[in-house]
Amino acid sequence: MRKKVIAGNWKMNMLPNEAIEYIDKLSKLVKDTTNEVVLCVPYIDLFYALLAAQNTNIKIGAQNMHFEEKGAYTGEISPQMLKSINVEYVIIGHSERRQYYNETDETVNKKVNAAHRVGLKPIVCVGETLEERENGKTAEIITEQTKLALEGLDEEQVAKTIIAYEPIWAIGTGKTATSEDANNSIKEIRKEIARNYGQETANRVIIQYGGSVKAENAKELFSMSDIDGGLVGGASLKVDEFNKIIHFEQ
Ligand code: 13P
Repeated sequence: MRKKVIAGNWKMNMLPNEAIEYIDKLSKLVKDTTNEVVLCVPYIDLFYALLAAQNTNIKIGAQNMHFEEKGAYTGEISPQMLKSINVEYVIIGHSERRQYYNETDETVNKKVNAAHRVGLKPIVCVGETLEERENGKTAEIITEQTKLALEGLDEEQVAKTIIAYEPIWAIGTGKTATSEDANNSIKEIRKEIARNYGQETANRVIIQYGGSVKAENAKELFSMSDIDGGLVGGASLKVDEFNKIIHFEQ
């Protein structure tokens, strides 16, 4: 049985004091859950968030990183830097980074490999645009993105990679994929992983859904056969709402 991983992506929101207050509150509410709870916070919040999350079951992640270990890359953060302060997860290839910061399948692949080299758990985002969807290209786009992202990894590393299926047209728009639709896309992703790394590995990979997840649709989405939790943007900024998403079974 795959674990459900419910990850919040705060994007460019929350100051350190707000992060501490949030985590103090959430940690009390989620101490009983068996679902994995992750908060991917802005770089500036990481250290505070890690301290606030100590001795709780909340895991902390970053939202991006460079693929090089060190060097003349002004403004960048390396995998080793994240690892050195005990960050556990890192989002890679979010569509906002692909769209605004020239993230490509190639840089995504370099970052995924770099994350595994230092023992960070990557959450790799894939997803189609509305135009690609309307042209019937969803499966082709997301399986290709998945294949390219994972190149160079061994089966064990693939099994430890989280994929987040985030249809771009559903991000921040209030539009959600139907649960059947999201489940079918995620099945395509799992099939692609099975083709390249075997069914056993594919069965172990956690594949999340992301795109306007909220308390009222989390249960329907996360109860589907292949959806192993979610990557939550806007709704993860409110403690009570995110707590309800984490406790979606209730
Ligand atoms: P929303 O939940 O705000 O649609 O954002 C989804 C997302 O991009 C998570 O990474």
